[in-house]
Formats: sequence, C-alpha cells, structure tokens
Amino acid sequence: MSTTASPSSARDAAPAKDAASSGHGSAPLPARASRSGPLAGTIEVPGDKSVSHRALIFGTLAVGETEITGLLEGEDVLNTARACAALGANVERLGPGAWRVRGVGVGGLQAPDGPLDFGNAGTGSRLMMGVVAGNPITATFDGDASLRKRPMRRILDPLEKMGVEVLDEAEGGRLPLTLRGPRDLIPITYESPVASAQIKSAVLLAGLGAPGETTLIEKEASRDHTERMLAHFGAEVRVEPHGAHGRKVTLKGRPELKPAPVRVPADPSSAAFPLVAALIVPGSEVTIRGVMTNPLRTGLLTTLQEMGAAIEFLDARTEGGESVADLRVRASALKGVDVPAARAPSMIDEYPVLAVAAACAEGTTRMRGLSELRVKESDRLAAVAAGLEAGGVAFAIEGDDLVVEGRGRVPGGGTVATHMDHRIAMSFLMMGLVAEKPMTIDDVSFIATSFPDFVPLMTGLGADIALAGDAA
Ligand code: S3P
Repeated sequence: MSTTASPSSARDAAPAKDAASSGHGSAPLPARASRSGPLAGTIEVPGDKSVSHRALIFGTLAVGETEITGLLEGEDVLNTARACAALGANVERLGPGAWRVRGVGVGGLQAPDGPLDFGNAGTGSRLMMGVVAGNPITATFDGDASLRKRPMRRILDPLEKMGVEVLDEAEGGRLPLTLRGPRDLIPITYESPVASAQIKSAVLLAGLGAPGETTLIEKEASRDHTERMLAHFGAEVRVEPHGAHGRKVTLKGRPELKPAPVRVPADPSSAAFPLVAALIVPGSEVTIRGVMTNPLRTGLLTTLQEMGAAIEFLDARTEGGESVADLRVRASALKGVDVPAARAPSMIDEYPVLAVAAACAEGTTRMRGLSELRVKESDRLAAVAAGLEAGGVAFAIEGDDLVVEGRGRVPGGGTVATHMDHRIAMSFLMMGLVAEKPMTIDDVSFIATSFPDFVPLMTGLGADIALAGDAA
C-alpha cells in the first residue's frame, strides 16, 4: 500500500512484474494447452480494461480525489496510471483494485519529465493524446514493438484540426511521437472515418480543453464508456442518434470536472475466454460473476446465442452506472452463423475467440467486415488465420471476411505465434482444451496486459494448461 504524495507513487505502487506475467521486454514464455475434462466452478474476471483506463484519466482531469474500486491491474492500465502520475496527478494504490487519484483539473497538466511509455496499450496511448492536447505542454508518446506498429494518424488528424502540433512522429504516423498542445484549442465537428471508441474518446477528451462545443459523429455506435464517464464527472454531454446505427456526441468544453467514485465492472472481453471454453469443453458448467452487459459490448453474447449457446443472465442489475449480470454457461452444441459487419464494433476484441468457437461448431461461420482487426495488438486477421491453420481448422479469408468451416472437432497439434497479442494467446489456449492433440502457444507473457491471473483461474476450473518449466 502506498500513501506517498509523490507524483511517482503509481510507479512505486504498481505490483512487481514477475517471470510469469512480465508483459513486454522480457523472454518469451511458451505454454501448452491440452484436452481437458469438464470445466466447473464460479469465477470472477478482472475489471474492464476500457473503464479502468478512463477511470484513471477522468480522475486526473477532475479537481479533487476520485476513488476507484475493481481497477484492472494489468500492464496496460498500470502504464496509464504511470502516465497520469507523470502528468501531475497523484495516483495511489490503496489495496487490490482500490486506487485513489488526486486530479489536477482540465488544463492543469504538467509537462512530463521524459517520454510516456504505454507499453502494449493502444487505448492508453490514444486516449492520453487527447488529454495532452487540451494542455499547453509537450509530451512524447512511446510503446513496445507492437504499439510502435499501430497507426496513430487516425488520432493525430483530428487533433491537428484542433490546433495540436505534431513535433515529431515515426514513419507513417507511428510511435514514438511528440505532441504540443496549443494555448487555445479549437472546438471541431469531426466525422470519424472508423467506428472507433479510441478516436471518439481522443477527440472528446481534447474537446474538454476547448471553448464551445466539440462534436464527434460516428456511423456505427462504438463503446460509450467515455460519454458515460463525462456525464458521471459532471460534464455537459449530449448523445443523439445519427443515421441507421450511428451517434452524434456533443460536449461542452472547459467544464470543471468533479471527482466521482468509479466501480469498475468485470470485463466482458476477458470473460469471453472462460465463457467460450465452457461452451466447447463437453460437460462444462461455469458461472462468471458481475460481467458488464453494456449493449455496446455484448456482440459476442448475441452471436454465441445465435449459434445455440446456453448462456443464462442471472441477477441482472446496475452497478456503478453499468448493467451487469452473472453469466451461467453450459457446454453446448454450436452451429455456424453469419455475423453481420454492423455488429463488429460491439465485439471488436472478441473475434479471435469467436473463431475458436466457430471451429468447434458444426457448419460455416462467416464473420463480416473485419478490416479493423488488421491494426490491433497484432494483425489479428492474419494471426487468427495462422492459429486456425496450426489447429488443423479449415478456413478462408475473403476480402475483409473470415470464413471458418466448423467440423465439430479440432485436430490441434500445432504451435501458435502470438505476435505480442494477449487475445491471440488466450484464444488458442482455449482451442487446446478441446483439440485432439495439444496446442502450443509461443509466448503467453502478454496475457499480463489485460488478465494477469488468467492461467491459474483457468486451471482452477479444470483446464489443462502448462507453462514452460512446469512439470508436465
Ligand atoms: C477500446 C476500443 C477498441 C478496442 C480496444 C479498447 C477502448 O478499439 O479494440 O481494445 O477502450 O476505447 P477501437 O476504438 O480502435 O476499435
């Protein structure tokens, strides 16, 4: 526990890295997943990653103390905590998942002493670019080899329209890059070319520092945690429908944000892995407690139910402003389905594990409109294809669609390259639990970015997963 008032207390308070959860910069950690008996038990998965990043950021932008419970203490979020501290907030860890942020207010950030290192985290880096934009300071953004490959022009373009100067950027608008926020930011109306909560959030967070109204238009609704948290912290924000599936979000700039407690619900994107495992491992029954059921995050649940999954929503309730439920999942005979492109924003991170479910189903599953998967922590379309190949599963990539031929059985036996991508690692570990021959994963260390205790939690349910070095 840390009670220091130094701006570096987030770094001091961050749980120490260890060999099994080291994230970037350390030796690869291979693992093997083998055919398992029925999975059984009741579990909780960690706090939502999107909400956790935002809780720290809004705490930094409010004047006073924000208390957070249930914060995800994965590497991605810890990097955001360190960045908030480097920008002048006081960030303290009070206990497991319990954090307090004393914020500096909109426009009150200090220039950091050195580059801000976001590790593997697209969300942390992109949202923080919007935050920095609203302050007359210069900051350098950097990350690991995966984050350095990801496109940042999608954020820099609207920020430049608002008056932000890009002093330096790696080729193609990539990290490392340096931004300088102007004295007077210009409010804009921006139509996002991609349905991306990260673009939307960066523009709105920058808009906090601009006079007048900043408007963001998206053609498909993306996750709305930023809009919800803006309102929760006292900003004036208006959300209106736009076209068939889109939204128009308007924010009144330069508010005084007031601290507000944040209770982080369990992450549906993390719940997806034990949930799919329980569906595909014969005889399983698993309950996952308190999972966020925000409709902009439940595309996977809808799709799995269409495939015939037995998922019960128990004790549906509202916690900390978000809908949550306990999900009771039973092993099910799944069938192939057609997943419309319009559903992609509500399940954008869940396609790798859906591909595993589709491989175990009977029939063809077509997942449409997956172009955004190419610019995630890895080129996820290519990484999923290679993983399916390693598992002996028939598939095709047709344009931006992934087509998986489910045959009700997975031969397995291959090795999957994770390309520094936590979700690729977790998805193909789940495939190994039903495959006829074990699946080997080249590096599971990046699971620590979003789900530090994933392997012990799964083995506790009965999954046969062995880390390199464990007795076989
Ligand atoms: C996130 C938005 C999504 C998602 C990411 C988290 C967020 O990215 O893939 O894991 O918290 O805003 P895009 O907004 O780029 O689709």
